[in-house]
Amino acid sequence: MTKEYKRTLITTALPYTNGPVHIGHLAGVYVPADIYARYLRLCGRPVTLIGGSDEHGVPITLKARKEGVTPQDIVDRYHALIKKSFEDLGISFDIYSRTTSDIHHDTASEFFRRLYEKGEFIEKSSEQLYDPEAGQFLADRYVTGECPHCHHQGAYGDQCEACGTSLNATDLIEPRSAITGAVPVLKETKHWYLPLDKWEPALRQWILEGHKEWKTNVYGQCKSWLDMGLQPRAVSRDLSWGVPVPVEGAEGKVLYVWFDAPIGYISNTKELLPDSWETWWKDPDTRIINFIGKDNIVFHCIVFPAMLMAYGDGFQLPDNVPANEFLNLEGDKISTSRNWAVWLHEYLADFPGKQDVLRYVLTANAPETKDNDFTWRDFQARNNNELVAILGNFVNRVVVLTHKYYGGEVPEPGTFEQPDLDAIAEMEQLKASLTENLETFHFREALKDAMGFARLGNKYLQDCEPWKTVKTDPERVKTILYVCAQLCASIDIVMEPFMPFMSERLSAILGGLKPEWSMIGRTDIVPAGTKLGQPELLFEKIDDEAIKAQTDRLEEIKRQNAISSFKPEVQLPEITIDDFAKVDLRIGTVLECEAVPKAKKLLRFVIDDGTPGHRVIVSGIAEHYKPQDLVGRQVLFVANLAPAKIRGVVSQGMILSALNADGSIVVAAPSAPVAPGAQVK
Ligand code: MF3
Ligand code: ZN
Repeated sequence: MTKEYKRTLITTALPYTNGPVHIGHLAGVYVPADIYARYLRLCGRPVTLIGGSDEHGVPITLKARKEGVTPQDIVDRYHALIKKSFEDLGISFDIYSRTTSDIHHDTASEFFRRLYEKGEFIEKSSEQLYDPEAGQFLADRYVTGECPHCHHQGAYGDQCEACGTSLNATDLIEPRSAITGAVPVLKETKHWYLPLDKWEPALRQWILEGHKEWKTNVYGQCKSWLDMGLQPRAVSRDLSWGVPVPVEGAEGKVLYVWFDAPIGYISNTKELLPDSWETWWKDPDTRIINFIGKDNIVFHCIVFPAMLMAYGDGFQLPDNVPANEFLNLEGDKISTSRNWAVWLHEYLADFPGKQDVLRYVLTANAPETKDNDFTWRDFQARNNNELVAILGNFVNRVVVLTHKYYGGEVPEPGTFEQPDLDAIAEMEQLKASLTENLETFHFREALKDAMGFARLGNKYLQDCEPWKTVKTDPERVKTILYVCAQLCASIDIVMEPFMPFMSERLSAILGGLKPEWSMIGRTDIVPAGTKLGQPELLFEKIDDEAIKAQTDRLEEIKRQNAISSFKPEVQLPEITIDDFAKVDLRIGTVLECEAVPKAKKLLRFVIDDGTPGHRVIVSGIAEHYKPQDLVGRQVLFVANLAPAKIRGVVSQGMILSALNADGSIVVAAPSAPVAPGAQVK
């Protein structure tokens, strides 16, 4: 950082309230933003962390329509759920408000009106997509089709998520209404456009010249946008849910959600600091940082800055926009609609008291420079091998030994010797690297540095072996355990941004420590004579069973998704009734069923087919059923299929079963008991 700022305003992308938040949101935006805010607070630097719900927009109205409730019902439900789960994860928002608040509606209306009055908009009638069945204009997520750039099939009317390009609904190839599936028609309507092209030179100057330090993914996206040339963008929509367009002749029109939502950052600051909010937005000594996911880059780096420049009045542009890439889950893209996610509120219920473990794993795996994968195995391994075995273990050994030798009181040290001086010097180095990584938003690396303190502690203990030295040189052990207490204190401080719950417990163990960044590495943080708390385990092992419960849940979701997205086979060529009449289909009852030796797919059935002799049929379903489970069941079989010898067994027919979407095989059966041998026609 070249300039000395007086304060930092941190914003976090306002999540759409059409569902709960998941680990992808957390890893991309909220955990890093919280780490950064906590770090600044520990440094004593003024900071405000702004969050809130994005409660307008099509995903919310679509969800409401699907459930047959109002959009307000949807946003009330998810706003409450999201707010609570963020709180429970320790995301230290100074405010978490919502874009349906009065103050936001007023702020967003005023913003629009000022641009309107300054003549910053182009007013234009044009033909837009219209769903004749629903009687409604289609924009944004109300319409899907093929992306004109990358030819991805499921692109939305405002953006293609596959290539990140921002679109106009009329750009889509073969558009379809997301409400009725209808092919849209074109219909004339009037809208207000923000001429982004007017701001292109200023944006170029600001980003391409002024912010070469931005992350390469962010800078690169901005550059390719600017190089493609900016176009005017409509900032109003023909919808009923949203902030009404506050000018004459705009009935039935609302502000585009991406116009009102970023203004939410301002409204929420106003709500929090009614008297001083302007200082946080307009004073050049304020540093604004926007934490977002990669799909939000264009809106935060191009559209919202253009809005702020058009508004004028001293509004500051962000100094940095540390956007992350995406987190996948067990190798698949996280998706709210496919329920492929680890939901925060469910995690908190399934792993009570383990908020820090999730924060730790998401930071260690943060998708900072490329998409990354969350797996439950990795989650377990990081908890057991890093948090328990390295961090928890070190602190525990120090506290236990201090109780054993000194009744829990931190001893008076003697002169520091080489190993002590080396440990102190290493702490200094780690602190410098950690601070640099935090300042530059490299949170993964920062976490490695922070863990370095615990690794250092374990190595120091291992090298000094106080449990041996105590027999030969008890005075020396006093110094060792004194240094260990200081190491624990530094661990407490460096971990606070990452794992605030653990840090709070450790502070209590260390006699009520109040962490400050400047204390890190010092040798007098915990004075001699401090009474340590009782040893307690800061982290517990997570067993295989808890992990299996999670992976089983995901397997089940995969199965359900396969079934709901199943596409049946193309139908076979037509046959006549006479063709069909040649097939003798019958019901039979399974009398015996057993595996065919040395054939892992085959089962041998004895079927009661109503004849005294019964019949034997071989069927390839051994991988899907246990033989004993089929005995007594009724099945459908083809009775007049020519007998065939299969693995030495003569099969007199064929049992009918369905190949399910998830790859399983299900035996077809009558809906009620039927006399064995009855024909099916
Ligand atoms: N709701 C948007 C999303 O989830 C983010 C809005 S960020 C804001 O992608 F700046 F508009 F608030
Ligand atoms: Zn695309």
